[in-house]
Amino acid sequence: MKLAIDGGKPVFEKPAALPPWPPVDPETAETLKEIYLGRKWSFYGPNEVEFNKLFAEYTGAAGCTMMANGTVTLEMALLALGVGPGDEVIVPAHTWLATGEAVVYRGATPVVVDIESDTLCMDPERFEEAITPKTKAVIPVHLFGSMADMDRIIPIARKHGIAVIEDCAHAHGGIWDGKHVGTIGDIGSFSFQQSKTMASGEGGACITGSEELSETLGRLSHIGYQYAAKQGQAGTPPPVGLICRNYRVTEFQAAILLSQLKHLKADTELRAKNAEFIRKRLNAIPGLQVQAPGKKATLQSYYNFCIMLDPASLRPGIDKKKVQEALWAEGASAGSGWTGVMYRQKLWSVPENMFRIASCENAERIVPDRLMASNLNWLMLSEEETELYCQAFEKVMAAYSK
Ligand SMILES: Cc1ncc(COP(=O)(O)O)c(C=O)c1O
Repeated sequence: MKLAIDGGKPVFEKPAALPPWPPVDPETAETLKEIYLGRKWSFYGPNEVEFNKLFAEYTGAAGCTMMANGTVTLEMALLALGVGPGDEVIVPAHTWLATGEAVVYRGATPVVVDIESDTLCMDPERFEEAITPKTKAVIPVHLFGSMADMDRIIPIARKHGIAVIEDCAHAHGGIWDGKHVGTIGDIGSFSFQQSKTMASGEGGACITGSEELSETLGRLSHIGYQYAAKQGQAGTPPPVGLICRNYRVTEFQAAILLSQLKHLKADTELRAKNAEFIRKRLNAIPGLQVQAPGKKATLQSYYNFCIMLDPASLRPGIDKKKVQEALWAEGASAGSGWTGVMYRQKLWSVPENMFRIASCENAERIVPDRLMASNLNWLMLSEEETELYCQAFEKVMAAYSK
C-alpha cells in the first residue's frame, strides 16, 4: 500500500479525535470563578488542604504536601531526608533533567546509572554497583509507561541505609503490587505541570508514609509554617537549621486537581486497557518493541506510550526520523520524547565535575535513535481509532522494513 507520505491515502482519513489535554469542565470553571471572587487565593486555603487530604487517601500515604512544581518537590524531598553537600544520589540515565538537577540544588552529586532495555527505568543491578560510602539516596523514576523495579530497588537501598525517593512525575494513578507509586519508598514526588496525567499548569506534591516527614515537608514549602496554619499564625517555629522555602501552590491549582482526581482512576484504567491492545499489535511487528510495563504493575499509568524501533530492521536510507514523518502523514503520532539522555538534554547545564556517570550503555543506545513516544491522549481514542493507530504503524513498518 502506498504510504501517505508518498501520496497514498492516509490510514486516518480525518484527524484522530484526541481528547484535548489538559481536560477542562464547566463545573471547575465555575469553582475557579468563585475562588477568584472570594479573594482567598493561597496559603493553606480549603482547596489545598482538601487536595492534600484526598490525594493522601487516594494513594494510601500518611500525608501529602502540594508545592509549586515537581522539581522543588524533588529538592525538598532530598532536603527532608538530610541530603546535602558531599553526598551522592543515584539517578537513572533516562529522565527529565530535573531529577538530576534537584540533587545539584542540594550541593550533592548526581551519580547516573543505566536503565533496563525493556522498562527503560533504572536498572537495579547498576544501582547497586554504583553505591559508595557517600551514597545517601536513590531516585528511581517511574518513566512514561512503566515503573522502576521497586521489589529489587528497596531491599538494596535498605541493606545500604539509602533513602528512596520515587519520582512519580509521570505516574499518577499507577499501582505497583497493590500499592500506589510513591508510597513504596520514603517519599514520592509528583508533578502537575501542564502536560502531565494530572495537570494544573504548574504544581507538584510530595507524599510519604511518615507523619514526621510530612510535617517537615509542609514546613519546608510554607516558609516554616506548621501544617494548615493560618497566615500570620505560624504556630510553633521550625527547628533551628531547617531553612524553609516558599514553594506554595495557589487555590486555583488545587481546585483544578481536585476535579481531575475524580476521574483519575477511570482515565488510568482506560489508558491501560488501550495500551494493552496496542502493545500486542505493535510488538508483533518486526523491528518494534513497546516499553514494557512495570514488572509488578497492578495498574500501569501512562504519561507517554513509548515504542522502540530497531534501526537494523529498516531498509537502507530509512531512519527513525523518516518513520516518524511517515507516521504523521498517516495521521498517527510518534514524537521523540526529550532531546536525549538526561545529561545530553539541551538544557542540562551541570559542569562535568559536578556529576558522575557510572553506567549508561542501554540509555545511550536506545534513547537517541530508537525511542518514539505518543502522548497520553492517543490512549484515549475510540476502539475504531485505536485500531487505525495500530494500522498506521503496521503500514509504515511494512513499507520501510528490510
Ligand atoms: C521525570 C520528571 N521528574 C520531574 C519533573 C519536574 O516536574 P516540573 O516540570 O513540575 O518541575 C518532570 C517534568 O517534566 C519529569 O518528567
